[in-house]
Amino acid sequence: MKALFLLILLISSLFALPDEFDREKYNTGEKVFDNKCSECHEKSMDIQLLMKNFIEEDNKLLNLKAPTGNEISFRLKSQIGSREDIEFQLHEATDFVKDYLYNPDRSKTICLEGVIRHFKTMPSMKGKVTVEEIEDVTFFLYFLEGFNDVNEYYHKEDDF
Ligand code: HEC
Repeated sequence: MKALFLLILLISSLFALPDEFDREKYNTGEKVFDNKCSECHEKSMDIQLLMKNFIEEDNKLLNLKAPTGNEISFRLKSQIGSREDIEFQLHEATDFVKDYLYNPDRSKTICLEGVIRHFKTMPSMKGKVTVEEIEDVTFFLYFLEGFNDVNEYYHKEDDF
């Protein structure tokens, strides 16, 4: 009985969300995304479909205007800092997004060349989005992809 209890505890801890996750901040960030980013960025799309669209079909299959939220989410965590320290990585990711949104410059891109080459540089969001909104939307983007139980788009990042 005790062993079973320990086993359940172990399994549930494997799927537990990190301490850094905050549902309220995530929801606030999602609203910022819906209001200020979704006119160009789709929130989440199937990765196989995206790869087919960008690599094989020259973006003619989906005609996307920008990389999707889940692609950005994955790239933020794989290109900036280390996932070993979520708090610090979130910090660095937020700094990157702040800088990019106010001073977009393709030479700073974290996206895949095969994806980014389909787009013009993002217009600056200076005056259109506040620092606080960027902090919330980055929080949302960070947790959008690869964290189980956060949203319906859960996808194992190892399968990217
Ligand atoms: C008018 C269209 C438009 C809007 C609105 C927009 N974006 Fe973008 N965004 C783009 C395009 C196009 C790209 C790809 C080109 C680039 O990276 O500069 C991009 C790229 C990005 C990138 C990746 C930068 C890189 O290349 O590594 C991030 C992060 C990003 N957007 C975040 C946001 C957020 C957050 C918002 C809302 C606050 C937003 N964008 C609003 C068009 C837009």
